[in-house]
Amino acid sequence: SHKIILDTDPGIDDAMAIFFAFQHPEIDVLGLTTVFGNVPVDMAAKNAITLCALANKDIPVCKGVGMPWVGKESGYAHFVHGDDGFGNINFPEAEGELDPRSSAQFIVDMAREYPGEITVVAIGPLGNLALALRLEPELPKLLKAVSIMGGAAFVPGNVTPVAEANIWNDAFAAEIVFGASWKLNMFGLDVTNSCPFTPDFLTQLKQNNPKLGGFVHDAAQFYVKFYSQNRDQDVCFFHDAMPLAHLVDPGLFALQTGHARVSTDPLNIGQTSVALPNTTTSPDWLNAQSINVATKVDNARLTQLYLDTYNR
Ligand code: BDR
Ligand code: CA
Repeated sequence: SHKIILDTDPGIDDAMAIFFAFQHPEIDVLGLTTVFGNVPVDMAAKNAITLCALANKDIPVCKGVGMPWVGKESGYAHFVHGDDGFGNINFPEAEGELDPRSSAQFIVDMAREYPGEITVVAIGPLGNLALALRLEPELPKLLKAVSIMGGAAFVPGNVTPVAEANIWNDAFAAEIVFGASWKLNMFGLDVTNSCPFTPDFLTQLKQNNPKLGGFVHDAAQFYVKFYSQNRDQDVCFFHDAMPLAHLVDPGLFALQTGHARVSTDPLNIGQTSVALPNTTTSPDWLNAQSINVATKVDNARLTQLYLDTYNR
C-alpha cells in the first residue's frame, strides 16, 4: 500500500479527497498536516480533526504554517468553501487533540522513520513542505515523491489570469518546493478544470456512503453554487481529488515531463511555467528542476473510481 501524508487546508474538495484516501484500501494515511489556504490554519486544523472523527480515523493531525513565506495573508477562500470551510452546514466540531509537532516537523519525522516510502500529497499552499526542506535538506532523498494539486501549466489561472490558488497563496514557498530535487508530480488546473462533476454525482456519493459521502454532498452544495455562478448548468470540480486518484490508478492520467518555474514577480506571481522537451536551449530553463505535469485525465474513469471507493 502507499504510505502518504496529506497536507491540506480543508476545504470542501479537500474533505472529498481526504475521505477517498481513508476509504481506499491501498492508501495508508500516516497523518494529516494542515496549512492556511482556503481557511486560516487554526480552522484548517480543527476541520481536519472533525473529518478524522467523522471517519473514525485515529491518526495524527498537525497544525502548520499560517502565513505565506513572504508577505502577509492575502485573504481566505470563504466565498468558495463557506465561513466554516464546509459550506456553512453547521456541522458540529469534533473534540480532539492536535499532535504537538508542527506539520513540517511531522513530515520530516515520518520521512526519517520510513525513508524512501512516503509520498507527500499536498492539496493546499506549499509552506509546510518548504519549511520541512529547511528543517531537513535531505528530505528529497527521504521521500518517495511529492504530488500536488496546484498550478496551471498550459491553461489560465483561477485567481489571476496566470496563477492557481494554491500556488498564488504562497508563491515563494512554491518556488522552493518546485526547485527541490524530489520527484514532483503536478496536478494543476490543466486536468482539474477539465474534469467537472454534476450535482448527480454528489447524490450518488451520498447513496454509496451515507456518512462520508453524505457529508461531502451537504458541504458541496455551497461549492457547486460558487462554481455554477456564470454557467448554464450546475457543475463543480474535483481539484484536490486528482493526486490521490493518480496514486492508485496512474493510468487515468497523461503526464509530461518538463523544466518548471514558479514566478515570484508581482505581475504574474504564482504562475507555474513548464518548458516541455526540445522547446528551449536556454540554460536558465534547462537548469530548472524537472517535474511531471498532468495534462490529461480520463474523467469518466476518475468519477467511477471515486464512486466505487466511497462504496466500500
Ligand atoms: C485549490 O484551491 C482550493 O480552493 C481548493 O481546495 C484546491 O486545493 C484549487 O485551485
Ligand atoms: Ca485544498
